[in-house]
Amino acid sequence: MQLDWLGIVFRWLHLLSAITAVGGTIFLRMALVPSVAVLSQEQHQALHEQVRSRWVKFVMAAIAFLIVSGLYNFITKVKSHTIVPDYNWLYQMLFGVKFILALIIFFLASALTGRSPAFAKIRQNAKLWLSVNMALAIIVVCISGVLRFIPVQLPTNG
Ligand code: HEM
Repeated sequence: MQLDWLGIVFRWLHLLSAITAVGGTIFLRMALVPSVAVLSQEQHQALHEQVRSRWVKFVMAAIAFLIVSGLYNFITKVKSHTIVPDYNWLYQMLFGVKFILALIIFFLASALTGRSPAFAKIRQNAKLWLSVNMALAIIVVCISGVLRFIPVQLPTNG
């Protein structure tokens, strides 16, 4: 039996992207946003632009890696038919909820770190939407943990 190196690389990508995106969101909401209150308006704006222009690259890379590696994980898991049939509905349902929540998270993260005038309202309420994103991201990590523990059967040898 050989190691599934492609699977391992996608798992690394998925976990590292999730850690970066979720950890970064928690840091921004719980440490950075409350701390900038001590700055003047000018300093605040200068710091915001410095942080935003650097962080946006990580957000975009994390979104791309999460989608590609997540789809790979999902397709290989479903195609391998290893999920115990009684739990198939639960796996599909939880995956569906996770996928929708992930899309909402990606949208909010892009709106918060981007510069599009269409989403200026979201940026004006950054505290609120960062809190929402943090809560959704924690739910997504918890759902992912359940997905991992849904019973699978080992393939038989013929
Ligand atoms: C905010 C975005 C996301 C976060 C924070 C996240 C987080 C995670 C984590 C932590 C795991 C590993 C669970 C474990 O090994 O215990 C995981 C697994 C997985 N993720 Fe994601 N993920 C995200 C987005 C996505 C997306 C967009 C997809 C699909 C396109 C996806 C599909 C999967 C699949 C199929 C697994 C494997 C579940 C299993 O073990 O059966 N994820 N995710």
